Order: sequence, then structure tokens, then C-alpha cells
Amino acid sequence: MDPYKHRPSSAYNSPFWTTNSGAPVWNNNSSLTVGTRGPILLEDYHLVEKLANFDRERIPERVVHARGASAKGFFEVTHDISNLTCADFLRAPGVQTPVIVRFSTVIHERGSPETLRDPRGFAVKFYTREGNFDLVGNNFPVFFIRDGMKFPDMVHALKPNPKSHIQENWRILDFFSHHPESLHMFTFLFDDLGVPQDYRHMEGSGVNTYTLINKAGKVHYVKFHWKPTCGVKCLLEDEAIKVGGSNHSHATQDLYDSIAAGNYPEWKLFIQIIDPDHEDRFDFDPLDVTKTWPEDILPLQPVGRLVLNKNIDNFFAENEQLAFCPAIIVPGVYYSDDKLLQTRIFSYADTQRHRLGPNYLQLPANAPKCAHHNNHHEGFMNFMHRDEEVNYFPSRYDPVRHAERHPIPPPVLTGRRDRVSF
Ligand code: HEM
Repeated sequence: MDPYKHRPSSAYNSPFWTTNSGAPVWNNNSSLTVGTRGPILLEDYHLVEKLANFDRERIPERVVHARGASAKGFFEVTHDISNLTCADFLRAPGVQTPVIVRFSTVIHERGSPETLRDPRGFAVKFYTREGNFDLVGNNFPVFFIRDGMKFPDMVHALKPNPKSHIQENWRILDFFSHHPESLHMFTFLFDDLGVPQDYRHMEGSGVNTYTLINKAGKVHYVKFHWKPTCGVKCLLEDEAIKVGGSNHSHATQDLYDSIAAGNYPEWKLFIQIIDPDHEDRFDFDPLDVTKTWPEDILPLQPVGRLVLNKNIDNFFAENEQLAFCPAIIVPGVYYSDDKLLQTRIFSYADTQRHRLGPNYLQLPANAPKCAHHNNHHEGFMNFMHRDEEVNYFPSRYDPVRHAERHPIPPPVLTGRRDRVSF
């Protein structure tokens, strides 16, 4: 099975021009006019359709991480962690899963330079046999804030001034001076690590604490880390100015050219784990996203490797329309109570319904590659062919059953409703 094959596709092009509805077009150069000089007739349907499509070519850019580059490849398990998780794609060394990855800058627009001092996104979509798993991370292992309530304000402060559309330090410092927990991430951002040389020489991190659950229901907190096999390289301020001055897409180009030349970028995946039964042994909160987990007491454990060996075929379909979401997990992986992660679970799918429409998960790059079924259907731009007569549940006529139950974290939750700073 080719996981990237999809239709409609330019593989089915006719040898001559047609309208969208397939009628032959005999002249794609000249509009239909009265006489030789015009005016143009409204009945020139081909012209109207051509302009109408052109007028609508752009979709809203991502509210953050608008500028990005993507590539495809595979993830391969190299070390057995089936004692920690029942995730099918991690079941044994040697198992390979197709992936699509999108790297990005965070704050500036879709066409902005890739040399700016800014965190970088590192988002991986695993097309597993049990559905997609999106590990939507960044290049730094910590985040500025701990509570998603602050995220829109934080982004407003970092984005350009709404009056002048110029990014201004006084606005950034004004906001962050109220949030000392952001200092840790600033030490990464304003260190020599702050401008990655390109996307190949960059680490990745899941940042938030997730959980792994094994068949018996035992839970471990987990942090995910990607380490590039070609090492980490960054640009100093004057180097960044030089690189960006001549090419504002240098990182996209580096990724594309490397893969085209057969020089496939590779990362090793490592995890750190904490048994929640013993989380009180640490002098930090494992769910606090502004803290790293010290590697001397919580060593990095190897899990697998990620190889990007195929360039995207089309930027719009496989970058602009790509939708990652931290809520998209598979059995054997679960969220933690990390408040930032909990907020993210809502926000991504919400923006994607706005940015791409309610059927965004039917788009080829976002759709699972495994068989899937439910009765969430219709809506704008539905292009799923369904021929079932029963679209309700339960039904004695529909043989589709519940999936096998898989373990989720067992702790009993109690507490008083509150809004707390921590
Ligand atoms: C509560 C905190 C956060 C909120 C509300 C939030 C929200 C968003 C939204 C709305 C998008 C645009 C998604 C789209 O249009 O497809 C986005 C993109 C992204 N976010 Fe976050 N985010 C948060 C924190 C984080 C953190 C902690 C990380 C790193 C672990 C992160 C990494 C990313 C990445 C990599 C993308 C780009 C995905 C892509 O390439 O399409 N975000 N975020």
C-alpha cells in the first residue's frame, strides 16, 4: 500500500484543458468578447471559474507556526518498550510506521524569513495501524507558560503590535515580566541555540508530559526527545543576518535539497520516564512544562529512529492543509494532567475546523491510513463516499461493533473547583 496515494490526483490529468466539470476548453488564452475589443461576456464560464478559483487560492494561515516546511519518511522502533506501552506502533524493534513531519517557526507570517530568533516547531504525524498519533513538539524542551489560559495573551505580546504591525520588545518584556516562569525558555531562546542553522540540525521535544500505559494498565509519565544524528548547529546573530539576507527560505530549501540528494535527515527518539507512584521524590513537579527533567537522574532511553526520505509532492496539500493536534493519540499513549497540554487538546482541532473546514480530517495528509468508521458525517466539503443505509448507532443492521477496550490512566480524580496559579 502506498500511504501517500490519493485521488483526485494530477496522475489522472487529461491531455487537454478542461473546466472543473470536465468539459473541454479550446482556448485558455483569450476571454470571450463581443467583437475583437470587448466587452467580455458574463457567459464566459471558463474565465469566471478560473478567476473564482484564483481569488480563493489562499486559506487562513495558522494563527501560530504559519511558516513551515514538511517532509515524509518513516519511524522505526529500535528498542523494545512494550513493558511501558501497549501502543501497536511501538510493539517491537524493527516495526516501521509512515510519518509526515512539519518544522516551523512560531511567531511570524507564512512568508517570513527562517532566520529569526524564535522557537521552532517539530510536529510528527505517525500513520499507525491504530490511527494517527501526532507528537506536536518544539525544538526547546520547556515552554514559556504553564497555564493555557495565558496562551492567547502570550502570542499577542510576541506578535507584531496591532497598531503598527511591528514586533516590539517593549510589548514582549511587558508581558513576560509578569511571568517569571518564562525565564527558563528565554535562556534557550537568547542563548546561541536561539536560531537553528536549519531544520536538519535541530533537536525536538514533546515538551508536555504525556503518559505511556502498558497492557496491564500501569502508567508512566513520559517526555519525548528527538536528537538529530547530524548534530545540533545554530546560527549566531551576524550569520543569521547574512543567511537570511540572501535567502528567506534557506531552511525549507536545505530540507528539500538534502532529501532530493539522498542525504536523508535522521533523528533518534529518546524517552524519559517517571513512575507517578513516586513523583513526590522529585523537587520539581513532573507536570510543570517550564522545567526539564534532569538527565542524570532520569536518563534518556532510546526508542527508535525517524528518517525523512521523501519530499512532499505539493506544498499546499502537505503543508498548508496539514493539521497536527496533540489530542490525536493512540492506545498505549495518553495525556497527563499538565494544564498546558489539556488546553492544547481543545485548541488545535478547533482552529483547524476554522482554518480548513469541519472535514479537515478527510484531507489526504490528515486522514488515517488504517480502516476507520463512525457516523460523524456530511458537513461542508465532505468528499467521503458512503453507501451505508444505517448512520445511527446502535442498530441491529450495522455489524460495526465497539473496538476492544484499551487501558487509560486509572487514578481516581477528586478536588474542589478552583482557578490556581502554580
Ligand atoms: C496552551 C498552549 C498552546 C496552545 C493553545 C497552542 C495552540 C496552537 C494553535 C492554535 C496552533 C495552530 C494549529 C493549526 O492551525 O493547525 C498551534 C500550532 C503549533 N503548536 Fe501550539 N499551542 C500551545 C502550546 C504549544 C506547545 C507547548 C508546543 C510545543 C510542544 C506547541 C507546538 C506547536 C506546533 C509545532 C505547531 C505547528 C503544527 C504544524 O506544523 O502545523 N504549541 N498551536
